Amino acid sequence: MYKIGTLNKISPVGLAHLSDKYTVSDDISEANGILVRSQDMHEMQLPESLLSIARAGAGVNNIPLDKCADAGIVVFNTPGANANAVKELVLGGLFLAARNIPAGIAWAGTLTENVGKAVEKGKSQFAGTEIKGKTLGVVGLGAIGVLVANAAADLGMKVIGYDPYFSVKAAHNLCSCIEVKEDVKDLLPLCDYISIHVPAMDSTKGMFNSELFALMKDGAILLNFSRDKLVNEANLLTALEAGKLGKYVTDFPTDGVLNKENIICLPHLGASTAEAEDNCATMAVEQTMDYIENG
Ligand code: MLT
Repeated sequence: MYKIGTLNKISPVGLAHLSDKYTVSDDISEANGILVRSQDMHEMQLPESLLSIARAGAGVNNIPLDKCADAGIVVFNTPGANANAVKELVLGGLFLAARNIPAGIAWAGTLTENVGKAVEKGKSQFAGTEIKGKTLGVVGLGAIGVLVANAAADLGMKVIGYDPYFSVKAAHNLCSCIEVKEDVKDLLPLCDYISIHVPAMDSTKGMFNSELFALMKDGAILLNFSRDKLVNEANLLTALEAGKLGKYVTDFPTDGVLNKENIICLPHLGASTAEAEDNCATMAVEQTMDYIENG
């Protein structure tokens, strides 16, 4: 019997793929494989019995990769399994920003009488713009970035991509209508919206900083559905205050960005759909069984 330890709630649909050679428990002390979502594992004592950690999601920044490599513990993620869910929320983010939806909803909630008349009188303060015909820059063309780029092109946006590690698979899946730049600095000045889809690593930490903000169009809108650490927060706030950036839409609120003008915060909902949770857990379970049984 192999032992699977779970951290966080792992979808039962995924766990159902474990064969009868496996037992599942939330006690990881003797686990051969761990299934994890976003729990921070950096300070955790890993058991001697551990062969693999599967992250039911894309980002692996909650897993101590160096420590695992030293101990010979293999780490998997589930690339693509939640990509559609994230893509759909990024599209939501574009509309939230373009149409001033959060501010409009908040204002409507304050109305108390003659609501119909008050709405018609006051609505012009929230008039927005359409995304059709606007330019979206997609920085990072992995599983999620490619879906975002294609969907935005389908909605009538002009889309430009950038990825220093642009893969053959991504090139195959990306709509031929999307131009791919070789340098992010060539993409930024052209975009009304910029969506970040790069992993959080030491080399990408704070990559969106004052130098890159300075290259953007005045009033550009930045969407971050990847990780908070990719954006230099102090530089971001300065760029917003100066009007260099028009809005920041993030799925990773921090103390510094919450409840600030022109910042729209979502509570890390990108992959929080029933479908994505099932897909990620299924992929994580299948990879774990394959590795434990076949190496
Ligand atoms: C991911 O890394 O896959 C997403 O941010 C969702 C998550 O962390 O669960």
